[in-house]
Amino acid sequence: MFRYAAPYRKKFYWSVALAISLAIFTPIRPWLIQLTVNDYISAKPGTTFLNGKLDIAGMLILITIIQIGLILIETLMRFVFSFTTASLGQSVVKDLRVETYKKILNLNLSQFDKTPVGALTTRTISDIESVNDIFSDGLVPVIADLLTIFCVLVFMFYADWQLAFIALIPFPIIIVATYYFKESINKSFQRVRNAIAALNSFVQEHLSGMAVVQAFAAEENEFKKFKKINREHRNANSRGIMAYSIFFPVVEIVSALSIGLIVWYSSEHRIAAGTIMSFILYINLLFRPLRMLADKFNVLQMGIIASERVFKVLDNTDVADNSGTWRPQQVKGKIEFDKVWFAYDDENFVLQDVSFIARPGETIAIVGHTGSGKTTIISLLNRLYHIQKGDIRIDDVSVENFELDALRSKIGVVLQDVFLFSGSVMDNITLRNPNIEKEKVIEAAKMIEMHDFIMQLPGGYDYNVMERGATLSLGQRQLLSFIRAMLYNPSILILDEATSSVDTESEQLIQHAIDTVIKDRTSVIIAHRLSTIRKANRIIVLDKGKIIETGTHEELIQKGDFYSKLHKIQFDKSIRIL
Ligand SMILES: Nc1ncnc2c1ncn2[C@@H]1O[C@H](COP(=O)(O)OP(=O)(O)OP(=O)(O)O)[C@@H](O)[C@H]1O
Ligand SMILES: [Mg+2]
Repeated sequence: MFRYAAPYRKKFYWSVALAISLAIFTPIRPWLIQLTVNDYISAKPGTTFLNGKLDIAGMLILITIIQIGLILIETLMRFVFSFTTASLGQSVVKDLRVETYKKILNLNLSQFDKTPVGALTTRTISDIESVNDIFSDGLVPVIADLLTIFCVLVFMFYADWQLAFIALIPFPIIIVATYYFKESINKSFQRVRNAIAALNSFVQEHLSGMAVVQAFAAEENEFKKFKKINREHRNANSRGIMAYSIFFPVVEIVSALSIGLIVWYSSEHRIAAGTIMSFILYINLLFRPLRMLADKFNVLQMGIIASERVFKVLDNTDVADNSGTWRPQQVKGKIEFDKVWFAYDDENFVLQDVSFIARPGETIAIVGHTGSGKTTIISLLNRLYHIQKGDIRIDDVSVENFELDALRSKIGVVLQDVFLFSGSVMDNITLRNPNIEKEKVIEAAKMIEMHDFIMQLPGGYDYNVMERGATLSLGQRQLLSFIRAMLYNPSILILDEATSSVDTESEQLIQHAIDTVIKDRTSVIIAHRLSTIRKANRIIVLDKGKIIETGTHEELIQKGDFYSKLHKIQFDKSIRIL
């Protein structure tokens, strides 16, 4: 944590210096009051002070001016102190958040299969916010409070050690109460955080899946579930509120007890009025930070827990390995899978001994039942996941030896489910890369005959697709991702066709787009359309992660085995249409 505070060393030192000065400064005013009452107000009429320069009235005016000055200075110091600690916290939060997000951006994709999105969102947003509390409410302020308590005690014992002892008799009660308060707040805080996380993820998920909720008339059940989670949130909070409501009055009672003891002892032992007054003020000075301390310890503890979680993300070593150095300007586009074995979880092999070659310019189609590993094959090509055994080569160089950016920029991808971000059509095509000119985008769009469609949208290329592309149809989304893939004029194209259930007009557009994008480049296509498959140089038939047949359409049909059966089931309908 301190490493992150290091660039803001100055602010940190300032706040510590101010904490120390404030601690020493605070007890001076009660001490001055003691002095005033005992030495000046109770002085015999006619006494003069400062070598006869001032009489009693003059001295009182001087003290008053000093007191006003002290109050002003103290206020100013308090202002600078809170401002410095808070801005120190925010600066650290800013850096930490950037670092965390950068880390998340570079994590291996498999990490996201294991970690819920909600958890990472909480890490980058609210957990880091609690880290701020370590600085603004925690560490330095706690030191400041402890110092204040220490200095006040010193002043008290210096003024009258016996009276100080008497005043502190009820102290152990406070210590016990503070302990129970701290524990109780701690527990409730944990529960509140969990409840907030549950609320967040429930609402987030159900807003995303609203169509399912409404289509299946599940509103009432979901609402009941929501009310239950919300109730838990209230219950968790009310425990905390209860602890506060008991603790603060207890502190009040104990401080009243202290004052009572001071008054009783003073009347027995004829203690000077000024001393009594100053002790009453000291007691207040002592109890105020004490009351806050319990609270701040909690904040500090929560901040530490939160920072532990954040650092767990930061210390994650499962980042995309980018040790390869091969950066070719262009690749010819030869793809070779050499006895590839792959498992998402290191034991259940999803791909087993997969080998095939695609020569530059060829089109390879992959077909197979759902779950047979088709999408997996193409995720491996641009190294979204690491293979366990075998090798994948492009132009006879293992993909492991490529620099990651260099590798991925040579491969255009159209994924099975297209994800669009909220923003304009243009932003979604270029992914906010400022180096891509609008003309290039339009050119790519024209190539696959999408330009006219985009121009029909209100605002054309500036049309705002809402989150997840909710305002566009499935086919339209896929077509946008074709433009995305075309922009870089990649030598290799991988295409995970979405289901063929799009309207005929989009169907034709997509077919045309596919024909255009695969021209003159090596393509690996997971195809559902018979026409696409027929044009392929080779068809790879995948079953449960193994290649069971390869060949052209005609060869495989003639063989009359797996493919011809699959073909019969899957394409009978489309053949009739064709
Ligand atoms: N991220 C993942 N983590 C763990 N297992 C996965 C993951 N993605 C896919 N799998 C598993 O790997 C197997 C192959 O999945 P894959 O997505 O490659 O199938 P597919 O052939 O593309 O199917 P479809 O035609 O339905 O798209 C499936 O059994 C699936 O359960
Ligand atoms: Mg798939």
